[in-house]
Amino acid sequence: MKEITVEKTLAPKARPQDESKLGFGSIFTDHMFLMDYFKGEGWVNPRIVPYGSFTLDPSAMVFHYGQAIFEGTKCYRRADGGLQLFRPQDNLARMTRSAARMCMPALDEQTALEGLKKLVEIDADWVPHQPGTSLYIRPTMIALDPQLGVHAARHYLFFIICSPVGSYYKEGLKPVGIYVEDEYVRAVRGGTGFTKCAGNYAASILAGDIAEKKGYSQVLWLDGVEQKYVEEVGSMNMMFAYGSHIVTPMLNGSILPGITRDSILTLAQQLGYTVEEKRLAIADIFEDIRAGRLTEAFGTGTAAVISPVGELCWKDEKLVIGGGQIGPVAQKLYDTLTGIQYGRIPDENGWIMKL
Ligand code: COI
Repeated sequence: MKEITVEKTLAPKARPQDESKLGFGSIFTDHMFLMDYFKGEGWVNPRIVPYGSFTLDPSAMVFHYGQAIFEGTKCYRRADGGLQLFRPQDNLARMTRSAARMCMPALDEQTALEGLKKLVEIDADWVPHQPGTSLYIRPTMIALDPQLGVHAARHYLFFIICSPVGSYYKEGLKPVGIYVEDEYVRAVRGGTGFTKCAGNYAASILAGDIAEKKGYSQVLWLDGVEQKYVEEVGSMNMMFAYGSHIVTPMLNGSILPGITRDSILTLAQQLGYTVEEKRLAIADIFEDIRAGRLTEAFGTGTAAVISPVGELCWKDEKLVIGGGQIGPVAQKLYDTLTGIQYGRIPDENGWIMKL
């Protein structure tokens, strides 16, 4: 593992006083972690420096051809004041998988994890205290070569920034309304849907904007070929409950393999629910809601945690799910997952990394 140098800020910023108003991702801590990659040399110069702007060449390849991938993980404050991370190594491993698809270099995951831990320790006072808050950690990798030929870059920057956050949706744990998108698509098989590349999110903004104007929080994407099957919500994977049976779209190459998705599928089985990963036709989902068979819908994600879905709109048909209230399955899974993340419930799965 390479030695990480540390330069602390001489001008620490004021931390947010009112933790009930953190929102999501607009306040950043005092420091950041950086590491460079040069082809032929590998990852070099891991360092923690004061948070601040980068100077990049306007011809840097990230601006033109979008070699940019990111991750999202969180640090939680326990009731005793201690701090803990949740499966951060799984996020870094997923970044390496995203990198392979984007022809970017595999991350030096060991140094990145050490850098992540050290950064959070240095900015520990920024981890908020209020229930439901956390420090969101955003590892990112971008291509830097000043070069306009379309091919893989040779110089990359990996960085980690941190942001104290509240809930991702303004609704918090109140159910959100989701618009089923049937014009635009997010990803197709063979594409980049399973990666956290910036372009997947850029391509989702227009549909999200249209849905928001119609009063919905997010869009539910359908498959890119037939637009028949449920994929994901961009900021979260989707799950549906039929009583105590939970179904979710199977990973098919165009859906993000969510770490929260995986955790929830594991916890659900440990709690006695049955789970099934399969291809889910949106027409069947709507039929099951109408018939009262489908009792709950919810999304899972690092930022979104568990977010109940109280209404789905598809081709102008609006259906309320579970009376528009959070259901018992989503509530139990939320309580269990956050209980583990905040240290109230023992972690039986080896997911917690205490700092
Ligand atoms: C996360 O849950 O960490 C995400 O990356 C979703 C997001 C784009 C806010």
